[in-house]
Amino acid sequence: MTTTTAPTSSYSPGSGYARDVEYERLERQAALSFPREFELMIAHGLTRTGTVIDLGSGNGAVTRRLREELPDATVYGSDVDAELLASVEPPTLAIVDGTIPVPDGSVDDIVMRFVAQHLRPALRAEVFAEIRRVLRPGGRLHVIDVDDSDAGHSSGRVTRGLVELFSELRAIQSADGGDRQVVKKIPAELERAGFIDVDPVTSAVTTNDHPVAAFSVHMGPDRYVPLVAAGVLTIEQLAVVGWSWENFRRDPEAFISINIHTVHAVSPGPATTTHHGS
Ligand SMILES: C[S@@+](CC[C@H](N)C(=O)[O-])C[C@H]1O[C@@H](n2cnc3c(N)ncnc32)[C@H](O)[C@@H]1O
Repeated sequence: MTTTTAPTSSYSPGSGYARDVEYERLERQAALSFPREFELMIAHGLTRTGTVIDLGSGNGAVTRRLREELPDATVYGSDVDAELLASVEPPTLAIVDGTIPVPDGSVDDIVMRFVAQHLRPALRAEVFAEIRRVLRPGGRLHVIDVDDSDAGHSSGRVTRGLVELFSELRAIQSADGGDRQVVKKIPAELERAGFIDVDPVTSAVTTNDHPVAAFSVHMGPDRYVPLVAAGVLTIEQLAVVGWSWENFRRDPEAFISINIHTVHAVSPGPATTTHHGS
């Protein structure tokens, strides 16, 4: 199976060194916020004994954590990218032509973390319809994604140059069909797809939960290294972020709170129409 995300998604983990860096970034991002996300999913009915699909599982940073937390459930990694999926322990489900290869109404929960931001609206609608097909009546979807316009706050001026880098990142992602404020649009899209009990939640992870260093995955220079390697950012831009992040990190009063945006929804049962396939 050689299906990749291109050209339907703005997610591009790169190759060689950049792919390794990306794997580590996903791992650190999960270490930082998965515990809070998991609490929210449990509060919204996540099964402890049934079937869960981690849709768009990447290299499995969240799949593994779900399996640790849910030892009596069956948790599938699932992705359109065969190379990423090969790095996830079985059981896994390869998505081909938009189809999740499981029977109608057979899944209790689907987790979709940092995937929607990479999909164009029309593709999101197809993915949500396919999710409705596979969820059992009363099964749940948990979307975790970004809203750069409500990203959180910190003491002082965290990282000089970061605002500019974020806007570059946003521009690159939206040129490829992605959307870094996608989470605002998800509730209405889920209602249009026929989900009920749609519940958007904003929560936070702060330096009371983790040491400042753990937040470098979002606010330090690390995540931008692949963009320099790709020739999108200059080494000078990266150096400015690195320098001011180091200054911030040494401040004993440093405080960071990043927002975690989730949307939880319930499938009422089989949809009257399905849109899976392409
Ligand atoms: C930023 S990664 C997130 C990985 C993982 N969910 C996590 O939080 O660490 C986005 C993932 O979505 C996958 N993806 C892109 N388009 C997809 C689609 N239409 N259906 C399922 N997964 C998709 C990509 O291949 C990639 O693995």
